[in-house]
Amino acid sequence: MNPKEVTAKKNSPIGIFDSGYGGLTILNEIKKQLPEYDYIYLGDNARTPYGTRSFDVVYKYTLQCVTKLFEMGCQLVILACNTASAKALRSIQQRDLPLIDPNRRVLGVIRPTVEVINTITKSGHVGLLATAGTVQSESYPLEIKKLYPEIKVSSEACPLWVPLIENNEHNGDGADFFVKKHLQNILFADSQIDTLILGCTHYPLLIDKIKRYLPQNIQVVSQGELVANSLANYLKRHTEMADKCSKNGTINYFTTESVEKFASSASIFMNGNIEAIHLELD
Ligand code: DGL
Repeated sequence: MNPKEVTAKKNSPIGIFDSGYGGLTILNEIKKQLPEYDYIYLGDNARTPYGTRSFDVVYKYTLQCVTKLFEMGCQLVILACNTASAKALRSIQQRDLPLIDPNRRVLGVIRPTVEVINTITKSGHVGLLATAGTVQSESYPLEIKKLYPEIKVSSEACPLWVPLIENNEHNGDGADFFVKKHLQNILFADSQIDTLILGCTHYPLLIDKIKRYLPQNIQVVSQGELVANSLANYLKRHTEMADKCSKNGTINYFTTESVEKFASSASIFMNGNIEAIHLELD
């Protein structure tokens, strides 16, 4: 199937966009909660990682992919990538959407995570583990400050975690060194932290290892379920959008990389054989 055929079926799938494979951890949870909807997953695998790229580049790439998803019929797109949510979401929502189509929506993964953080932390001290790009953007501390000014946030960039996972080395002994290193750094920065946000869609694959090196009183917050809850809630509140989204329970995967590479790496994130369609971005 090609992008035009997806549109020709008069589908309005929900677009799930990520720079690579990490968004599959979000899609997994979304489809558990909302199995009736149609989805298109688009991984910009040819240009991943976004986490080390500048604001301008992440914005440009993200907008290009969102526009593609709109062309494929999506009325609603979720940026299932923290880096894109941190560096591109606001500009797309405020500057581009009114010009492209004011009735379409693009939502991110930071807000759904931040919104519930006050219900998880007891000490009011929260740690963020994320890519360098997300940390530098300061999106998490700024968003948390807006909602819960009393919460203190410390951040730690973990630049090697994504490549470890993408190379299927996250369960190996080598990964332990880099997991311990960043956990030590963040707990050294603030010893009162009782909640750690996994602010990168890849990191849930490291959750067992992360928990192994943390004191038991520290909660590890993984985003998939939170984003799925928030989307379900959004669709309940916005029936006009829910009505526009088609519901045949289908998922189509698109990648800017080769389909063979996508199939082999995606299997690290999802069980089963995932057949993607190659998408050329102009
Ligand atoms: N998906 C990205 C995120 O959640 C991580 C991968 C990348 O750096 O592109 O931040």
